[in-house]
Parts: sequence; structure tokens; C-alpha cells
Amino acid sequence: MASKRATATATALRLTPQPSPRAATSYLRTTPPFLSPHRRHISAYGYEQAKALTFSKYGEPADVLSLHTHSISPAHSHNLTLRFLAAPINPADINQIQGVYPSKPAFTTALGTATPIAVAGNEGVAEVISLGSSVKGLAKGDWVMMKAPGFGTWRTHAQTTPEHVTRLEDRRGISAITAATVSVNPCTAYRMLRGFGAMRPGDWFVQNGANGGVGRAAIQLARVWGFRSLNIVRGRAEGTDELARELRDLGADVVVTDAELQAPEFRERVKEWTAGGREPVKLALNCVGGKPATAMAKVLAPGGHFVTYGAMSKQPLTLPASLLIFKDVHFHGFWVSKWAEREPDEKKRTVEHVLELVRKGEFKDVPVEELLWEWETKEEELIGAVKGTLEGFRKGKGVFVFGRT
Ligand SMILES: NC(=O)c1ccc[n+]([C@@H]2O[C@H](COP(=O)([O-])OP(=O)(O)OC[C@H]3O[C@@H](n4cnc5c(N)ncnc54)[C@H](OP(=O)(O)O)[C@@H]3O)[C@@H](O)[C@H]2O)c1
Repeated sequence: MASKRATATATALRLTPQPSPRAATSYLRTTPPFLSPHRRHISAYGYEQAKALTFSKYGEPADVLSLHTHSISPAHSHNLTLRFLAAPINPADINQIQGVYPSKPAFTTALGTATPIAVAGNEGVAEVISLGSSVKGLAKGDWVMMKAPGFGTWRTHAQTTPEHVTRLEDRRGISAITAATVSVNPCTAYRMLRGFGAMRPGDWFVQNGANGGVGRAAIQLARVWGFRSLNIVRGRAEGTDELARELRDLGADVVVTDAELQAPEFRERVKEWTAGGREPVKLALNCVGGKPATAMAKVLAPGGHFVTYGAMSKQPLTLPASLLIFKDVHFHGFWVSKWAEREPDEKKRTVEHVLELVRKGEFKDVPVEELLWEWETKEEELIGAVKGTLEGFRKGKGVFVFGRT
């Protein structure tokens, strides 16, 4: 990708350089504090003090989130007490707080409030710190991940029962951040690449949002399986070439900006990359929508498959009828939560395979901005961190990393 072209793209989109979130927010850390052996004092009666980012009504995170403190009684019978280690801030978490995500959280008064509240966050990893005598198959110190969305993971501690969590069977070589982020994005990329278009080694797929969590996972899995990828990113005022290099290092075959995708000569360029069009582009993965998604659909070979899994631009997907009538392109949607509900064993196998690739050094985490959450961390810092993740062109995914809680 020519840097001049990238700069022109960014200017056309009126993009401004983003300040480094690390510089702007002093509470970000790079040390993994979850390795700290220190724990807070627990009361003589075994009650655990907990804090959670909660909401009682839907709205913008900055308007509706608040930090709620409560206590958790000692685990007995079938109960488990968990201490969270890490929990990402995914776009779906924000949509859920806004009330526009189909999976709704449970609003409850069980955390000691007069008005029902829900705990935000869907994905994460926690350590079992105590358990009742009837709990089987789990032990103190085990790491668990959430089985389904709606658990509420932006919290220091939680009490639950075993059917809501999945034990991480083999923790060797797996960091808390990897465990906290493996269930959603890597599984989504994995199932879309395996489930649509009957992809075989050497086949091409095209995707937008290629630098996002799902996009990076798709690039790396494609490299493992021998698929070739044509990756679309948004051009930025600075750093487009660096981003392209980063994605190529992960295994991307081609990286282009959305402006290059929409240029008239793009189809000719695709032909150059795909041996004059003899190597069909069989699959498209779309998390953006709008005009760039329409342009991406046109890259597909006849009979290709177009899978939509997100709508980051909030623009509708508009499709020329010719793609359906004359090119027989098949359009699908994919939602990892529904798939996991339908196929829990396959979900477990998928997670285990991704973790195996991590151990072999064949799969890297998405770049993250660690947001340190300690007992003393202030409400406004935590909510500010969530608000910060709403901006595009970020250096990494925001992940709460729990320190001394
Ligand atoms: N259906 C499912 O099962 C499923 C599962 C996982 C994720 N998702 C969805 O997939 C999407 C990506 O999730 P993620 O976790 O990979 O996100 P992420 O890591 O936060 O990355 C976001 C991606 O979206 C791009 N983006 C942000 N705002 C945009 C805009 N206005 N127009 C075009 N692109 C924009 C970003 O590009 P820049 O760097 O240029 O900002 C980046 O590539 C979200 O919509 C999420 O809800 C769906």
C-alpha cells in the first residue's frame, strides 16, 4: 500500500490523529497485576467485599454506569465465589448497555439495591477462590470462563453456580488476558472460516475490520489452515502502513484501505493478486456495513458466501440485485452466542484448539490496553475507560485487568 495513497485516504475521510490512550489515561498499566500474590483483607466471617460496574436502565455507558459495592456471603452448597482476573470491553458490551443488543442482562436486586441492577460485561476469566461442599469438578485456584453472555464480568468478584462457567482445563502458557478474550472473537473467526464457503487450502477470503479482534483472529487462523486473506482496514492520518505491516506479520496476504477498495481499479488489482481471477475469492466477512461492505461483496466470485457479523459503521448493508441474481452470491449472518448455545461441545473444542495454537506460538492476542482495576480505583476512572473504548482507530482493545481487589 502506498503511503501517499493512505494519507490521501485519511484526508478525504477527515480523520484526525488520535491521542495515544496510554498517554491520556494514567490508570493504564502494562504489568500484569493479576500475578500479584497480595489479596485484600476478608472479614472474619468470610464475607468478600466486591465492586461491580452496573446499570439500572439502558443508555450511554457514561450516563448509566455506576460502581456498586456489595458483599458476598461465604460459598456454601453448590455456590462458587469468583475473583475476576481480566475482562475485555467488547463492542457488544457497549451495545448491551445501550439496550440495542439482543442478549439482555439479568436485572436483579440480589446485589443489595432497592432498584434492580445489571452488571455490565459479558466475557472474562476469573479464579475460583472458594466453593461449597457440593461443587464437583472445580477446585480453589481453578480459572473459569463464562459459558454464556449476560454473566456480568466487569466486577471484582461474583458468586455463581458451576453450570454458568467453563473450567480452563489446561492453563499452561495461557495468560489471563488470553483466557479472558478467547471465547468471543477467536471463536467467531474460527466458525465463520470453517462454516461458510467450504474453504480449502489456497482459497481466498476478503474481510473488513481486519485489524479488529475478529479480523486479527481470522488472519491468523487462515495462515494456520492455508487460506489466503485480502484485508480491508480504515485508512488513518498516521500509521496506516505500520498497521498493514503488523497485519502482514500476523499472516495477512494483502492489506488495503477502504478507499482503495472503493477505487474503480480495485477489481483489476484483485485479479493481479488472484492469478487473473483464476483463484476465486470464496468468502467475505463483514463487520462494517455501508458502502465499503457493498464494494467488498463485489469482490466475491460467483457462488461466493458473504457473512455479516457486525455493523461498526451503523450503516445498512445495500446490495445490488445482480449479486443475487447473476452471481448467485449467498448472504448469511453469524452470531457466536447462538452458535455456542446450539453447540456447547463444539464451542469448548474451538476454545481448546485456539489455546493450543497460542501455546504453539501460532496465535497471538489482539493488542490490548490494560485498564488496571484495583480496590481503590475510582468510579470515574473505570467509566472513563469504558467511554474511551467507544472511539475508533484505537491502538488496542480495552481490557480490565484486576489487581488488588
Ligand atoms: N456476530 C458475532 O458473533 C460477533 C462476535 C464478535 C464480534 N462481533 C462484532 O464484530 C465487530 C468487531 O468486533 P471486535 O471485537 O473485533 O472489535 P474491535 O477489536 O474493537 O475492533 C473494531 C473494528 O471495527 C472497526 N471500526 C470501528 N468503528 C468503525 C466505523 N465507524 N466504521 C468502520 N469500521 C469501524 C475498527 O477499525 P479502526 O481501527 O479503524 O477503528 C476495528 O477494525 C463488532 O461489531 C462486534 O459487535 C460480532
